[in-house]
Amino acid sequence: MNITDQHQLKGNFLESKQITKDTLEEGKLIEGDTLSVLNKIDDNVVNVGVTSPPYNKQEKHKGWLVKNVVYDVYKDAVPEPEYQQHQVDVLNEIYRVTAPGGSFFYNHKVRWERGNMYHPMDWLRKTEWTVKQEIIWDRMIAGNIRGWRFWQVEERIYWLYKPIDNKLIGTELRSCDAKLTSIWRGVPENGKNNPHPAPFPLWLPARVIISILDTETQGVVLDPYIGSGTTAVAAKLLGHKYIGIDRSEEYMKMTIDRLDNAHSEMSKIQEELGLHQVEMTFKERKSKGKNVGKYRNTDDESKTDQPSLFEQ
Ligand SMILES: C[S@@+](CC[C@H](N)C(=O)[O-])C[C@H]1O[C@@H](n2cnc3c(N)ncnc32)[C@H](O)[C@@H]1O
Repeated sequence: MNITDQHQLKGNFLESKQITKDTLEEGKLIEGDTLSVLNKIDDNVVNVGVTSPPYNKQEKHKGWLVKNVVYDVYKDAVPEPEYQQHQVDVLNEIYRVTAPGGSFFYNHKVRWERGNMYHPMDWLRKTEWTVKQEIIWDRMIAGNIRGWRFWQVEERIYWLYKPIDNKLIGTELRSCDAKLTSIWRGVPENGKNNPHPAPFPLWLPARVIISILDTETQGVVLDPYIGSGTTAVAAKLLGHKYIGIDRSEEYMKMTIDRLDNAHSEMSKIQEELGLHQVEMTFKERKSKGKNVGKYRNTDDESKTDQPSLFEQ
């Protein structure tokens, strides 16, 4: 099926709040500036979102480390206070379009520029979201040419939550998801497989969707900076609807191509699904007096003699 005519929209031609749950069909891809396009989405439509925004990496002032991450129609270099305020505005619009009880996973990094540290929590605390968790993404690989600091190979993923009736804690994850820990280890997508300058690896949005959405009900997944469409592909293959926004026509085309051929990426989704399994839930383990309180990275047996989380 070619989805182009049915699903691709130009943000400028939409009315305010025109995108509703009922009009989504399989999903919608909307080309335009994310803040103005979010305005075209009705309140409480989204169940979970995941994104990696541009990082304001001041590309003009840097060397080869970032020169490969140059976007199609966007200069990733604005004054930092302006950038942070814009992110607050975007995150608050995402909050409005997310249903109470919904979550948003925001991938960013701690940046250090000419002696100033910019931490994502600096602006996340200014948004309406409840910050539920800071996840470390150990990318295991990163370019480096200078030794000003220890080699930074990690990024962060913030789990943001929209409470129901001011109950900030929300519901528990299933044990098979919670056991995946707060450190997500996995290399970024290989540039040979995906020509976008900064794509997600498919397992990342897949992990979010599998962990947060109920498998019985079809949910709505948002990525307000969809790039090459990784989040939409994960949503589609997992049986959910998607909303993807990007200002680049070229990246929209990449997303459409990927969605048309999504089945070819199914093995990566199955690989991720295989990680979300446990023989016994936390509750069952507790009732049988089995260990639930300690975690050991079973990849490295030599480091500790602590029992593993799921050891019998
Ligand atoms: C880090 S990339 C996202 C990559 C994506 N996760 C993927 O897997 O391909 C950020 C994207 O944001 C888009 N972008 C930047 N500023 C934007 C804006 N104001 N509105 C909409 N899209 C924007 C860029 O075109 C780029 O594709």
